Amino acid sequence: MVAVLRSVIRGVGAHLPKRIVSNEDLSKIVDTSDAWIQERSGIVNRHIADETEKTSDLGAAAAKQALVRAGIDPIDIDLIVCATATPDRTFPATAVRIQSMLGVTKGAAFDVQAVCSGFVYGLTIADNFLKTGQSKRALVIGAETFSRILDWSDRSTCVLFGDGAGAVVLEAQPQHGTRNDRGILATRLRSDGRYEDLLYVDGGAGSTKTVGHLRMNGREVFRHAIQKISGVIEETLVETGYAADEIDLFIPHQANKRILDGIAKKLGVAPEKIVMTLHKHGNTSAASIPLALNEAFEAHRVKEGSLILMEAMGGGFTWGAVLARW
Ligand code: ACO
Repeated sequence: MVAVLRSVIRGVGAHLPKRIVSNEDLSKIVDTSDAWIQERSGIVNRHIADETEKTSDLGAAAAKQALVRAGIDPIDIDLIVCATATPDRTFPATAVRIQSMLGVTKGAAFDVQAVCSGFVYGLTIADNFLKTGQSKRALVIGAETFSRILDWSDRSTCVLFGDGAGAVVLEAQPQHGTRNDRGILATRLRSDGRYEDLLYVDGGAGSTKTVGHLRMNGREVFRHAIQKISGVIEETLVETGYAADEIDLFIPHQANKRILDGIAKKLGVAPEKIVMTLHKHGNTSAASIPLALNEAFEAHRVKEGSLILMEAMGGGFTWGAVLARW
């Protein structure tokens, strides 16, 4: 047994805007119905930020809660990674704004752009900083105000997304170097830019000089999701030697209930192990995994030693999986 550094999750937190918008509410602005949205996606409600709430506000609130639960002072954080596709400004990074809101002045802070896979990307990047000893304590935040990039006249997309933020505090701790260790055990990241046109935003500072709106070929995204996500999950299981039925909690990116059920069935994960928040939050992109992890924590479903599987796929395509022990 070789002593290794692992990224142990010390705390989790979340923050949602107060305003809740129901399927019924949306049926008043676009030609849709509660029945269609629930049947096709599993979504019932979503939280939508008001004009005064920015991505950094949501992210900083989630980070503060995670820090309090971890019992770690913000001044001891030396890495902040914020996964977001809806930054406050084109620059500086939202992570740097959150750094200042938390009163953190050391280390580095930067954003990660992998859309819905952003949190999985952020965890993997922070894990690599911690494992190599470059940083000691990291905040990984997923924060989005996706409502700002939705085309509110397009019923095929505007009903699916919501706003929110979640965060975890990671700390580098010496472990034994076995699969029974606490912390992040295996990560996999993938991307394939050939699929850009299936899910993208039709604007940008470097092209149209506008922010743009989300465009999606939902049927095609759906077609790729189960196979691509199952592939990276299986790789993390092979690397650690775990079987899918040994996973205690499955915390997927919350895009569509039919996708989540399909992945769990393909892998053989029991339905009661899936953490589902889609009905309450919709798809909150990079925020959805830490929001779901926070729900599981508050419901006492996460215990010391729990084996947790997280996965996501998003625009790019990007996709990835993280296997960790709480
Ligand atoms: N209300 C009522 N009818 C609608 C709505 C709506 N909100 N939206 C579309 N329809 C209609 C369509 O116009 C279509 O009508 P038609 O048959 O007369 O042409 C019909 O419903 C069926 O449309 P489909 O797109 O085929 O419906 P589908 O069953 O594929 O469900 C959905 C659509 C929910 C988008 C699904 O394809 C999906 O979830 N895909 C995956 C999306 C996803 O995971 N996105 C997140 C990726 S993460 C990221 O990076 C942002």
